[in-house]
Amino acid sequence: MRILVVGATGTIGRAVCDALSPRHEVVRASRHRSALRVDIAQPDSIRALYQAMGRVDAVVSAAGEARFAPLSTLRDEDFAFSLANKLMGQVNLVRLGFDSVSDGGGFVLTSGVLARSPMPGSAAVSLVNAGLEGFARAAALEAPRGVRVNVVSPPWVTETLRALGMDPRPGLPAAQVAQTYVQAVEGRQTGEVLEPKKDSRPATRL
Ligand SMILES: NC(=O)c1ccc[n+]([C@@H]2O[C@H](COP(=O)([O-])OP(=O)(O)OC[C@H]3O[C@@H](n4cnc5c(N)ncnc54)[C@H](OP(=O)(O)O)[C@@H]3O)[C@@H](O)[C@H]2O)c1
Repeated sequence: MRILVVGATGTIGRAVCDALSPRHEVVRASRHRSALRVDIAQPDSIRALYQAMGRVDAVVSAAGEARFAPLSTLRDEDFAFSLANKLMGQVNLVRLGFDSVSDGGGFVLTSGVLARSPMPGSAAVSLVNAGLEGFARAAALEAPRGVRVNVVSPPWVTETLRALGMDPRPGLPAAQVAQTYVQAVEGRQTGEVLEPKKDSRPATRL
């Protein structure tokens, strides 16, 4: 398969590229550090990316930012940023990408554990993650030509916890998280939220 990975330079995106590349042609894109650039917060940038790409069999997104801060300090701008970037950025990758994905191909988006296990400071992130999961379930019903739409909801990643100076033990290594993306790309499921687990078999949340 020819697979576009957006967010290819990130902790999760790099691991997804490594996991897919032995069996597939992987095209790497990101906002600053990839040869192929896209800013998913800008719909015209997504349109230009798809125009440059031509046909792909799958699009994986491990990109998108949302603001983490106490609810009382989150400003209008923080919500607007989070919605335009991680939420609408990935929604638009699907909406604007349907015509670029081959019959039976698929999209794999990224939400995150804070959708269902919030913590103080996660209001904007939890909002965006939950929105992505609702969007994917609904978009899968209307996707044309057998195109599939799924979301991976990663737990905390070991490498991220380590980089933040936190206890890495509750985390899951990025390479293990990446296996769930591979299963979403290569499998037949659609409209599902896949949660990477320690034994690498994703649990499905209906
Ligand atoms: N790591 C975790 O523990 C964890 C857990 C749950 C959910 N998640 C979610 O998983 C996703 C990836 O996380 P990560 O830790 O791998 O992030 P990361 O290491 O910070 O990497 C983010 C990647 O996304 C790209 N990117 C960011 N904003 C973009 C934009 N507007 N347009 C296009 N590309 C953009 C970056 O590109 P450049 O490098 O070129 O700027 C980079 O490739 C995030 O949405 C995060 O919320 C992560």
